[in-house]
Amino acid sequence: MRGKMKKYILGIESTAHTFGVAVVDDGKILSNIKDSYATEKGGIIPIEAAEHHEKIKEEIYREALKQANITEKEIKAIAFSQGPGLPPCLKVGKEFTKELARKLKVPVVPVNHCVSHLEIGKITGARDPVLLYVSGANTQIIAYSSGKYRVFGETLDRGIGNFIDSFARYAGIGFPGGPKIQELSEKGKKYIELPYSIKGMDVAFSGILTNLKQKLESKKYKLEDLSFSLQETVFAMLIEASERALAHTGKNELLLGGGVACNSRLQEMAKIMCKERGARYFCPPNELLVDNAGMIGFLGEIMFEKGIKEKPNKVDILPRQRTDDVEVKWK
Ligand code: ATP
Ligand code: FE2
Repeated sequence: MRGKMKKYILGIESTAHTFGVAVVDDGKILSNIKDSYATEKGGIIPIEAAEHHEKIKEEIYREALKQANITEKEIKAIAFSQGPGLPPCLKVGKEFTKELARKLKVPVVPVNHCVSHLEIGKITGARDPVLLYVSGANTQIIAYSSGKYRVFGETLDRGIGNFIDSFARYAGIGFPGGPKIQELSEKGKKYIELPYSIKGMDVAFSGILTNLKQKLESKKYKLEDLSFSLQETVFAMLIEASERALAHTGKNELLLGGGVACNSRLQEMAKIMCKERGARYFCPPNELLVDNAGMIGFLGEIMFEKGIKEKPNKVDILPRQRTDDVEVKWK
């Protein structure tokens, strides 16, 4: 008997800045190609981001197949980011998924973007972690509990990445601000007192941003010291909230996710906290921390193997899908 042709899962990400396509095989990411829309000012104009995605989607797709060394005929299902995200951006991913799925006659697997940030942590060995998800738009502490992924804590105003980027923009150091603030903070020596804003497992950043802007305006402080103090303050808040979530859920694994988790000082603080309470610390490589299609394909494959799939004309985007709205049928 001739062996069946080996087949693969395609992952597609398009919730915000990033359009990405990945090929996944049995938990291994064979290719993970992406391109991100960026403006000088750093803010996102959803329609422009969608135009960016529209323009590069075909090229990214071809490159993902090429790097994985597969042909279209070897795709068995397409997983796509269904939400949460910006509607115009999500639509590009959805339409691309539908067209391709119809053409290739394969099913579609709708994936929640936030949950995929958590599930991809399994690649690092985490089994049942508390996820500290810190990206541009999102700041959440998520864990699996009683059949659902639940948000134990979150930002009450803006996302941490957005907060850091806003301060960086105000200081005139460009976008994205995260890596630049980190660089400056390493030269900072003096800790300047800033508001510390945490309630239970929730955090807030807007007040701190206003305070930082005033301090910068006053010209009494060095940007290096402000950057250092910014990081020490807001990361301490996040670590405190994460520790509380670990204690509350009784879990003993902490996983980092989202672009801000690329920050080495945040990683260091997370490691120290975990060590002190005897928890295990996990952090995927940078390319899997930021928005990417590999994590969508990775979770899509797990779902597909459990029989979760849809016909292409049945699926739609869910721009406001909440983490705890997701029906976890694959566990
Ligand atoms: P979403 O919030 O929808 O998941 P996004 O595109 O805003 O998507 P990511 O790609 O996960 O988010 O992350 C981008 C953010 O990560 C930016 O705000 C950027 O400043 C921040 N970032 C990147 N590197 C670092 C770093 N070393 N330190 C701090 N922040 C960083
Ligand atoms: Fe994300």
